[in-house]
Amino acid sequence: MDKIEDAVKVYVLSKQFMSENLDAIVNIERDYSETWLPDNFMMDVPMKWELSRYASIGEKPVGFLIASLREDSIALHRFMVDPDYRDRHIGAIIYSDFEQACMKIQGVKKITLNVLADNTGAIEFYKRLGYAICSKRSDTARRYGMEKILRE
Ligand SMILES: CC(C)(COP(=O)(O)OP(=O)(O)OC[C@H]1O[C@@H](n2cnc3c(N)ncnc32)[C@H](O)[C@@H]1OP(=O)(O)O)[C@@H](O)C(=O)NCCC(=O)NCCS
Repeated sequence: MDKIEDAVKVYVLSKQFMSENLDAIVNIERDYSETWLPDNFMMDVPMKWELSRYASIGEKPVGFLIASLREDSIALHRFMVDPDYRDRHIGAIIYSDFEQACMKIQGVKKITLNVLADNTGAIEFYKRLGYAICSKRSDTARRYGMEKILRE
């Protein structure tokens, strides 16, 4: 296989997979500043175990996306690609599968997320996927709200 993206497969991140592979999932975010505790990963929120995704190369999880349903929008809570596997379109591959699932849910108008204002790489990544900055919060960690409208 020539390109790594050809070896990447995307799956629904079920609660069972999360509990059985928590160490591998947590390891993916080893270089991220705001770490989550195991309880955050395992927490039940609406439609989380249907909407969330992970990517694998063979048996190795290399990225994940966690999301949930909120009335007429979907909240994207967390999105990480293993630092050793970034910039090979794995994030874009996971995202595409996720957005297709979002589109299938009746009544969902948009996807929303928060990103640290100094995370310029992620902001650029989301802009390329069609997101726009919609709010700027100035609490202790400065964050931007971003959203993508799926349908009016
Ligand atoms: C953000 C993240 C998920 C992107 O995943 P990735 O697999 O590296 O991104 P991709 O290779 O799929 O990139 C898709 C597009 O976004 C662009 N992009 C990705 N990271 C970028 C960056 N840091 N700066 C500018 N553009 C970037 C790519 O160039 C690519 O553009 P193209 O389609 O025109 O070639 C990954 O960098 C990551 O895990 N970052 C750390 C965690 C994080 O910040 N998460 C988001 C906040 S919760």
